[in-house]
Amino acid sequence: MDRTGKPALAVVGATGAVGTVMLQILSQHADIWGEIRLIASPRSAGRKLAVRGEEVEVVALCEEAFDGIDVAMFDVPDEVSARWAPLAASRGAVVVDSSAAFRMDPDVPLVVPEVNPHAARIRPRSLVAGPNCTTLSMIVALGALHAEFGLRELVVSSYQAVSGAGRAGVDTLRRQLSLVAGTELGTGPGDVRRAVGDDTGPFPEPVALNVVPWVGSLREDGWSSEEMKVRDESRKILGLPDLPVAVTCVRVPVVTTHSLTVHARFEDEVTVDRAREILATAPGVVLCDDPASGEFPTPADVVGTDPTWVGRVRRALDDPTALELFVCGDNLRKGAALNTAQIAELVAAEFTGAP
Ligand SMILES: NC(=O)c1ccc[n+]([C@@H]2O[C@H](COP(=O)([O-])OP(=O)(O)OC[C@H]3O[C@@H](n4cnc5c(N)ncnc54)[C@H](OP(=O)(O)O)[C@@H]3O)[C@@H](O)[C@H]2O)c1
Repeated sequence: MDRTGKPALAVVGATGAVGTVMLQILSQHADIWGEIRLIASPRSAGRKLAVRGEEVEVVALCEEAFDGIDVAMFDVPDEVSARWAPLAASRGAVVVDSSAAFRMDPDVPLVVPEVNPHAARIRPRSLVAGPNCTTLSMIVALGALHAEFGLRELVVSSYQAVSGAGRAGVDTLRRQLSLVAGTELGTGPGDVRRAVGDDTGPFPEPVALNVVPWVGSLREDGWSSEEMKVRDESRKILGLPDLPVAVTCVRVPVVTTHSLTVHARFEDEVTVDRAREILATAPGVVLCDDPASGEFPTPADVVGTDPTWVGRVRRALDDPTALELFVCGDNLRKGAALNTAQIAELVAAEFTGAP
């Protein structure tokens, strides 16, 4: 706790795609923090960023940067978290990490406050992890349905925004769009590829005027790391270690907000009416489902909002125990920064004794 009697917070990675949204969220949420210290790489040291209406100077990541810090949010690449999060914890901070570095560590809880808030209290390593943005884009809605119906199987396809790959992903899409805008490209094999050139940024193929069935790196038997994350993390958060999960991750030319189609099979027969009631009342979920009047969630409307938006709720035609859903969530807000902020707020309440 600092002089104000409030917990001191560090935001590590304050200059990144997630960090930028984090500073907005910290400026919008109840002001529960004492000092907010902004940390990034030495490249950014000395830059000034606005948070809570004040300009705060960014400091370079080093051990001393955690002196006096109670809670440290890490919004940095995996390898940076892997090295520095335990160091921050050893200097007395509770770390809330957005990266993949600790998510599957059995001694690190993986927390979504709407689904398993109790898990954040048990922190053998003083670390709490938040899930991947794709898992987070659906798990709040699925957690609500699971609590009532008992989930038995998931089949998921994602339509992932480029900001899931950080600032570099957004820069790449914008650059490629500027090269194809106003042209007749997209009518012959390879014409988009030739126009955007060999530098496809963090993506293996052009992403403008395209969809790319690949997110992450290659794992066993042709699965991608992103697909394995969705499977492993969903199982851990829901406490269903043997849940069958099949995932195909696809990148689409959307700046921010991931979308997913979900086929969810439950223990017994389900009704659409009850599913809609659950989704309409679940905290953190908005039901947006009236196809007769063209109402369903799309990234163009969901971006910049907090909830998980669910539409196209149908019972599977060939299985009365299964539902089909279309889900959208802002990958930088609930998909990363908001979830991390919510976890940090749970931890801060322990410091201040707030309910
Ligand atoms: N983007 C998403 O939708 C999303 C969703 C969930 C989780 N995540 C995870 O959140 C983390 C951040 O992602 P992002 O998309 O915000 O990435 P990003 O836009 O590339 O930003 C990376 C941040 O990390 C900092 N950084 C990089 N190397 C560093 C170093 N050696 N020392 C100190 N700081 C360093 C950068 O600081 P400089 O500006 O100084 O380089 C920047 O602030 C990643 O682990 C990612 O997997 C992202």
